[in-house]
Amino acid sequence: MRLTILGMTAHDSRPEQAKKLADIDWSTLGFSYIRTDLRYLAHWKDGEWDAGTLTEDNQIHLAEGSTALHYGQQCFEGLKAYRCADGSINLFRPDQNAARMRMSCRRLLMPELSDEQFIDACLQVVRANEHFLPPYGTGGSLYLRPFVIGVGDNIGVRTAPEFIFSVFCVPVGPYFKGGLTPTNFITSDYDRAAPHGTGAAKVGGNYAASLLPGYEAKKRDFADVIYLDPATHTTIEEAGAANFFAITQDGQKFVTPQSPSILPSITKYSLLWLAEHRLGLEVEEGDIRIDELGKFSEAGACGTAAVITPIGGIQHGDDFHVFYSESEPGPVTRRLYDELVGIQYGDKEAPEGWIVKV
Ligand SMILES: Cc1ncc(COP(=O)(O)O)c(C=O)c1O
Repeated sequence: MRLTILGMTAHDSRPEQAKKLADIDWSTLGFSYIRTDLRYLAHWKDGEWDAGTLTEDNQIHLAEGSTALHYGQQCFEGLKAYRCADGSINLFRPDQNAARMRMSCRRLLMPELSDEQFIDACLQVVRANEHFLPPYGTGGSLYLRPFVIGVGDNIGVRTAPEFIFSVFCVPVGPYFKGGLTPTNFITSDYDRAAPHGTGAAKVGGNYAASLLPGYEAKKRDFADVIYLDPATHTTIEEAGAANFFAITQDGQKFVTPQSPSILPSITKYSLLWLAEHRLGLEVEEGDIRIDELGKFSEAGACGTAAVITPIGGIQHGDDFHVFYSESEPGPVTRRLYDELVGIQYGDKEAPEGWIVKV
């Protein structure tokens, strides 16, 4: 069957079937693509989004001139659903992802989606693939990947005539192997974003720019790159595809960088709140100079996929700076992790509005 919708063809070839549940070992899940049963697909044309629908087809057939393919006109999101001890399902702060996707869409001149349509699409996808949700206690979750792409016939550098919004899901385990085990990072001469470019938007171009430095870091056995501020290369911006935070030597302050070229991490702002309101720490968004790492006793990478990954040490030029330890998470990092993960899996009381029950 071939369905032509708004200049793109949804083509029902089903080259591979959805993964059989019996083949999934929940305890060893990593961060790899697994085809699940149903995904949400909506189209924009002539000024409005349609109501969207669920489809089994995991292939998208695009117009060859689609702006997403040539000019990087696309953005995406990442959020997770968690199975709780009582069997219910928690979605973590989807309104924040909806808001950030609107910001990304605005930056790339793409049509925005309402909170309602974004969250409803996520809920539909979780419900339709509920059996792919890793059981409570395995440490896994169902990762949702919403995205918007510019499609339709086009050749010049301009915004697309049509758009697709889709959400698919994949059961996942930890992004960095080892969970709460510290990993080492390395600075790079490359930037992922320009000082006033698209760093604050979740757009593919930033990630394309990070592939080579990420590859080089991994070749040298580092988990990923510490990106420095693109204007002066003196302060820390991001830790690979995650935000960065550090705890001062006295254990009293949670510090995280602030910059227009950092992706505003929903996990980071959640930790900032938890650090202040649950751990009683001071919190600060400000500069963290790469030559002043000695001010901090602990450091971590945080994000939906990374959760909290303690940073053992950072290689910068010839210097290798170790924070708390290369093998153990520091005490504040551990408390933040327990608080955040406890809320996500429903074991700890969530601040108002953070959890949407599926
Ligand atoms: C570049 C980058 N920074 C930070 C994050 C963390 O953001 P969040 O906590 O919203 O997942 C991500 C992942 O989404 C990312 O890709």
